Amino acid sequence: MSEQAAIDLGWLDVAARLATPMLGATGATPPVCALLVDPENDRLLSQGVTPFRGVGVAELLALADAPAADGTTLYLTAEPVPDVTGPASAIDAIVNAGVSRVVAGALDADPARAGEGLRRLAELGIDVHYLAHERSALLHEGARSRQLRGRPHVTLKITLSADDMVGHGAPGGHDLLGVEALRWLDRERAAADAIISGAARAEIENADLLTHLPGLDRRGALRVILAGQRDLNTGIDLFNVVSGAPILVVTTAGRPSALRPGIEVAEIEQRRGHLDLRQVLDLLTARQINRVLVEAGARLAESFIAGEMVDRLHVVDIPGLVGRSGVRAALLGRFQDRIAAARFSEVDRRLLGEDKVRTFERL
Ligand SMILES: NC(=O)c1ccc[n+]([C@@H]2O[C@H](COP(=O)([O-])OP(=O)(O)OC[C@H]3O[C@@H](n4cnc5c(N)ncnc54)[C@H](OP(=O)(O)O)[C@@H]3O)[C@@H](O)[C@H]2O)c1
Repeated sequence: MSEQAAIDLGWLDVAARLATPMLGATGATPPVCALLVDPENDRLLSQGVTPFRGVGVAELLALADAPAADGTTLYLTAEPVPDVTGPASAIDAIVNAGVSRVVAGALDADPARAGEGLRRLAELGIDVHYLAHERSALLHEGARSRQLRGRPHVTLKITLSADDMVGHGAPGGHDLLGVEALRWLDRERAAADAIISGAARAEIENADLLTHLPGLDRRGALRVILAGQRDLNTGIDLFNVVSGAPILVVTTAGRPSALRPGIEVAEIEQRRGHLDLRQVLDLLTARQINRVLVEAGARLAESFIAGEMVDRLHVVDIPGLVGRSGVRAALLGRFQDRIAAARFSEVDRRLLGEDKVRTFERL
């Protein structure tokens, strides 16, 4: 690798690291980071990151903050959007500011526009480079999934006890995770645009599906509750404690009358006796949701995996036993065999206190 390529990749790493905390906070527009660097001394002049709800353009923020941009290099986690003109046009602003070189770590998530922003800059005399940068691409995996496959990117998290159970199965049960793993789950929730859970789980674990980390508690991903065959227990905290995070109940049975105003209900069709999960994802796609976290028990996990709707799988192994009265993770055999049969391969493994998170992606 050339010395310049190593420098470029180093700055793209910094940019991606700065944009990552905004995942889940910028709405339909994925977060972008722009770094304006003086190539003479490799010094950072200014930076811009897509703000909350996506109301701002990273490139414009970085340029507005720089004392002067003449002859600078602009590092971007994604190429600029080509079809915006006028004062909001990042392309016009980059050219007018005198930036001489632009390095992008990812192309536009929309295949019809991929490469267009860089091409336009090149036509206007800017020296442009595209370096396929994995961390930059990760920022756009949700938007790309929506554009290419017509559904959000889906991460499924499931907790497994040492005896391959997912929970106690009776009200009064609680999340099995230790403190460090709960903090990790908070960050996963914060990075999602929507969180899906089965209704029984909210009842059994009294789960609120909110992010509890200071500074991230305003995130408010859409909480999607999949109702089952049984009547929805509308008395649980989830439905009665008001927070900034909206709730969407998906059901086949119409609106339960005791749900408080403000909770949305969507009615969809059944497939093999359950809610049709493709229709659930269609509902979220229509709302321009990019990234979904499914906090699944055994049955929901099986439905999502069997429907080939899981892109990333986090298995959290806890050291404790649940015992015979618990809910088994796999319908047959061990959950690990189910993962292998579904052609997932392990890409990461980390210890969180006494718990261990294994991350899988589809082969
Ligand atoms: N360890 C973990 O990570 C974790 C996460 C969640 C839950 N749990 C535990 O799992 C146990 C069972 O909770 P749970 O029933 O909420 O777990 P689940 O398997 O996550 O969800 C099943 C619930 O979702 C409904 N559902 C709607 N559409 C579905 C579909 N297409 N496929 C499958 N289910 C669908 C089911 O309705 P029907 O009535 O129609 O079947 C049922 O109410 C509890 O002990 C809970 O604590 C553990």
